[in-house]
Amino acid sequence: ASTLGAQAAASGRYFGTAVASGKLGDSTYSTILDREFNMITPENEMKWDTIEPSRGAFNFGPADQIVNHALAHGQQMRGHTTVWHNQLPGWVSSITDANTLRSVMDNHITTEISHFKGKIYAWDVVNEAFADGSSQHRSSVFQNVLGNGFIEEAFRTARAADPAAKLCYNDYNIENWTDAKTQGVYSMVRDFKARGVPIDCVGFQSHFGSGGPPASFQTTLSNFAALGVDVQLTELDIAQAPSAAYTNTVTACMRVARCAGITVWGIRDSDSWRSGESPLLFDGSGNKKAAYSAVLSALGTG
Ligand code: G3I
Repeated sequence: ASTLGAQAAASGRYFGTAVASGKLGDSTYSTILDREFNMITPENEMKWDTIEPSRGAFNFGPADQIVNHALAHGQQMRGHTTVWHNQLPGWVSSITDANTLRSVMDNHITTEISHFKGKIYAWDVVNEAFADGSSQHRSSVFQNVLGNGFIEEAFRTARAADPAAKLCYNDYNIENWTDAKTQGVYSMVRDFKARGVPIDCVGFQSHFGSGGPPASFQTTLSNFAALGVDVQLTELDIAQAPSAAYTNTVTACMRVARCAGITVWGIRDSDSWRSGESPLLFDGSGNKKAAYSAVLSALGTG
């Protein structure tokens, strides 16, 4: 196949990108989006500060714009993200009463996921809850006020709101198997599966340096998959976009049957949160870079 999405689909996978609603009117951007990608993650529009800027006041406009674009162009959606310590409004982070915060968190999850019910392939229910260099949860208002159980609470609430959506835990720096953070997330997923806490997938953000993924990346993906969850590469970008680093990343996914798909974190280098590192598959003018061809051919090895 001659596009990323079609090539991934040939092995039953998807190939997606992060999308910013404000760029949909840029025809260079939307032409590439609709030609190459069959999965979309809103880059910011489904985060708490946009969706519920003040308590009980929900703003779905920017996210709806992206979802409507996807529906009109036959693309699926990843929901990102219901519970995260960043892009969290001050009214939430200042809550100190556990009953209040639990009800606020559950209402946020229920209202957001219900709004998009039936239109989301997978939700990043909880994002980045583990601390770097540790197998423990990081400090956050959710952790500090609700305790360890907040992640389980969030997943149970999400399942009730849209039983058909896949529910993912999403994080970065969990790609190297021996890292404490990877082991912490692995233990959580193993525990959730053992106790019947609803979880269907783990998102590996995959924000890599120019060397690409750690040598153990495929091992990490298959070890998680063996717990009975899908694995997904959810925010891929690689400093300087070396072809070899992209090839190694895509190949690791292709070799794991339950690696469901790959999402790159933006279309053109100029769209990237790390644009200074030119980490994506298209240059600022929308031309395919060498890494594009590397990814297209690695996707063909499935
Ligand atoms: O929308 C405001 C705008 O009104 C304001 O004038 C402008 C001034 O700074 O800021 C705009 O908000 C920015 C927002 O992106 C939308 O452009 C924020 O400052 C900026 O912090 C925010 O950055 C996003 C970042 O998450 C925030 O944490 C990036 O676009 C987004 O790519 C990035 O994505 C995250 C994933 O969600 C989770 N994993 C890591 C990844 C990279 O940080």
